[in-house]
Order: sequence, then C-alpha cells, then structure tokens
Amino acid sequence: MRVVFASAEVSPIAKTGGLGDVCGSLPKALQKLGHDVVVFMPFYRQARQWFEKSGAPLHPLMPTQVIAWANWIAEATYLRASLPGTDIPIVFVANDFFFERDQIYSDAPDGWHDYLLRYTFFCRAVIRACELLDIRPDVLHCHDWHTALLPLYLDSGLRSVPQFQRAKSVFTIHNLNYQGIAGPGAFALTGLHQRYWAPDALEHYGTLNPMKGAILLANQVTTVSPNYGREIMTPQLGAGLDGVLRSINYKFLGILNGIDADEWNPLTDPHLPVNYDETMLREKTRVKRALLKEADLKFSQKTPVIGAVSRLVGQKGFQLLLPVFDRLIAAGAQLLILGSGEPDLENALAYLGERFRDRAKVWLGFDNALAHRIYGGADMLLMPSIYEPCGLNQMYALRYGTIPIVRLTGGLADTVIPYDGTNLDVANGFGFVAADPRELQLASWLAMLNFKDGATWKTLQTHGMEQDFSWERSARQYDEVYRR
Ligand code: ADP
Ligand code: GLC
Repeated sequence: MRVVFASAEVSPIAKTGGLGDVCGSLPKALQKLGHDVVVFMPFYRQARQWFEKSGAPLHPLMPTQVIAWANWIAEATYLRASLPGTDIPIVFVANDFFFERDQIYSDAPDGWHDYLLRYTFFCRAVIRACELLDIRPDVLHCHDWHTALLPLYLDSGLRSVPQFQRAKSVFTIHNLNYQGIAGPGAFALTGLHQRYWAPDALEHYGTLNPMKGAILLANQVTTVSPNYGREIMTPQLGAGLDGVLRSINYKFLGILNGIDADEWNPLTDPHLPVNYDETMLREKTRVKRALLKEADLKFSQKTPVIGAVSRLVGQKGFQLLLPVFDRLIAAGAQLLILGSGEPDLENALAYLGERFRDRAKVWLGFDNALAHRIYGGADMLLMPSIYEPCGLNQMYALRYGTIPIVRLTGGLADTVIPYDGTNLDVANGFGFVAADPRELQLASWLAMLNFKDGATWKTLQTHGMEQDFSWERSARQYDEVYRR
C-alpha cells in the first residue's frame, strides 16, 4: 500500500520525544512488509541544522508554492531527502515564518500562540504536495493533534480530488493530553465547512478540539500501547475525551511501540565508549565508569547508579522524586539525571544536583549522545510517570541491561514486569503503583537491595536484554489496521 506519514517530529532529524522516534523507525518496518511509505514533516531550524551538520543530501522538489485555504495564504517550499539509512522519501515543508524558530514548539517571535495556524498550514501543505507530486495514498497515517485536521479534510470532500480518491485515514494517539485546543474563533482558520463545528466533529464544550475531531472522523484510531488504550477510556486518564473514545471502540486499537533495534543496540552503539551484549555484561561496568567520570563522580561498582532521561513535565512524575531525592542518596545511590522542560522542575532538580554534588549530577538540556551513555552506564533507570502512553526509555534501558524502576501505568505496565520476590523467572524490573514519593523511594530501595545480589541482578538484566522490542510484531498490527 502507498502510505503517507504526517508527523510533527521525525528522529533523528528533529524530535523532542518518542513521537519522533516512532515516526523515524516505524516507516522502516512498514517498508519491510512491502508498503511504500512517504514521510512528511516541517522543516524546523533543528532539521536545517541536522542537514548542515550531517551533510546528508537535501534537494528542492519544485518551485515554492502558494498554499491557500480559508482566508489564509502562505508559501511552502518543499525539500526532499531520504530517511537516514534508508531509501524512504521524506518531504519537508519549509516556511521560515512558521518553522525557523528556537524550539520545535516555539510560539511566534511576537509571542503569539500560533500553534494551530502552524500545523493547519502544515496539513494543507501536505495535501497540496500530494496533489502536485501525484502521490496517491491508500493510507494517510496521522500522528497526534498536529496532524489531526488531515482526517477531517479527507472526510470533508478531499476524496473528490483524484489523488485522494482511495485514501483512508489512520490517526495514532501518542499523547492524549495534547489536543491542540483553541477558542471557537479559531474554527475559521481550518477552512472547514460549518458542519464540522459540531459535537460530533471539532467542537468540544465550546472549544475547538482537533484531537477529538480526528478521533471521531479518522477511519481507524490507534494508540501506542494496549494498556494506555484501556486507560484512556476512563475518566481518570481520558483527558476529557474518554466518552468520545468509548464511542469509537469499534475502530480503535492499542499497539505497543517498537524500538529501532539498530539505533538502540549496546553491541554497536557508537555513543558508548565500549560495546557489549548480554554475554559480556562485564563490559557494561566500563561504560558506567566512563559515565561517572563524565559526571565528575566517584566510581564504585558496588554503588548503584540510578539514571533518568526525560522531558521534565508533570506527565513524567519527577515531582515525586524531589521529596525523596536525599533519601535515595542516603540509602546509597548515585543519581544521574538528563532532562529539559518546565522551569520549576528544572530548577528544583538543578538545585538538588548542586546540593548533593558529590553523589548526583543533573544535566539540563537535550543531548541524544549522552542519553545513550546513560542508558548504557546506569544500573537502573527511573521513570515515575503519572501517565505514559507507551514510553520508549524503559525499552532502551532493558535492551542495555539497565533495570527500569517505573510507575506501573500505561505502556510501562505492558513492558516492565516488576520483581516481587517470587517471579524471578520472568521479572525484568521494579515498579510501584501509587503516585506517591514514598512508593518511589520503596521501589528504588528494593531495586538497590537486589542490586547487591549479583545473580539475581544478572537474571533481571538478561531477561530485559533478551526481550524482542523490535518493530516487526507491531508493524504487522499496523498492517492489519491499514487493511481494515
Ligand atoms: P516522551 O515521548 O513522552 O517524551 P518516550 O519515552 O516515548 O517519552 O520517548 C522519549 C525519547 O526522548 C527517548 O528517545 C529519550 O531518549 C528522548 N529524550 C527525552 N529527553 C531527552 C533529553 N533531555 N536528552 C536526550 N534525549 C531525550
Ligand atoms: C508520546 C508519549 C510516550 C510514547 C511516545 C511515542 O510522546 O508520551 O509515552 O512512547 O509518544 O509513541
């Protein structure tokens, strides 16, 4: 099938989190199944810099086009490259006003929150490119709210355009809590017929809600783990859309994310000072030693290192770590944290990092190479998420023999089997349920106790490293969704 992917992030070109990882790796697995995939993404400053740095070829596709919709016109320049390491075409939509910004999700230079306008433009530009390049998708696979208007455009008459005659839409929810909500005045911006301003389309309690519109009008809807798929049907985790989701249960499926097994492989990872696999776990110690040196901390194989790599936002639960940070250190841990996000969390963690300078290191920022070294060098990886649609970090950690300590929510509960003293035949990590700092502390303490027992620890490590998190199985499930 001809599949068009539209996403706000694609790794390694520009990402802030797992959305990028998925859209950079799932297309490869789909290609292996025989699908013909084209990926669309905005040409952010980060993307431009990625090409400048890597020297990878990037070509203009056609003269700059004027995209006109509703009362708007804006220019789109299309650039073409291949998804790194593949021959899968990736088409960039460039427009300096919208995408040449400090961060991927920055507001306009004058402070205007123009998120809806930027991504509406992106969606319109994807459609226009398919027309001009005669790309005839069987499936338009849209990811998260940024591309949520595409299924609505498809529903609203686009199928009369020859390129879209056969097209069906699949909408994947990577994070239900970002819905692209705007005030009712923004509806005019979409250029959609007035009938879409209704509770069975874009309108949600008087606001404009792109995520809701896509859930209702896409032909198929998926999310990124089976457990999160169940959780978001409840008011607790449904972010106001649980009722909407229950009503579309017939076209909804939770498919566990895979990981790019080439990029995330301790045996070949170029970011690690030493490579290893489950048969040579001793080498992992050398990665730990180098990481501690980088953090300017003392190395001892006996001291458990708890690492974390995360966006620092409420979702990720690091507010639970703050009150017990000192206790984990008192219990014998070293803490290594890499993250960026909300200033309050950044400041609080940076403060604790300074205060316990001889036992902890906090790096504020986004650094993919360092992230790899933390997955490789830490003994444990902490993910205290309040909610977690899938989570990729725990899978990277498992692959690297680093034992996850997680809050058992969403995809974390689908991938981490907590050790409870009776299930060493299957366990691969540690977990807790209540979103409570004490629970986090206890689970970490339990992990530290077991860390002292070399044989148990090795068994836990081996279980994770032998697990198959590659995309193959999940890609087959997407294939089934496409066929449906
Ligand atoms: P989410 O998408 O919600 O942030 P995931 O676990 O799905 O969570 O994916 C997170 C991805 O982003 C991983 O690839 C992780 O390594 C990466 N990441 C998050 N924060 C940072 C950071 N500060 N530096 C480098 N990589 C990061
Ligand atoms: C989102 C979720 C994360 C998931 C990722 C990729 O960013 O927060 O849990 O792994 O999307 O699907």
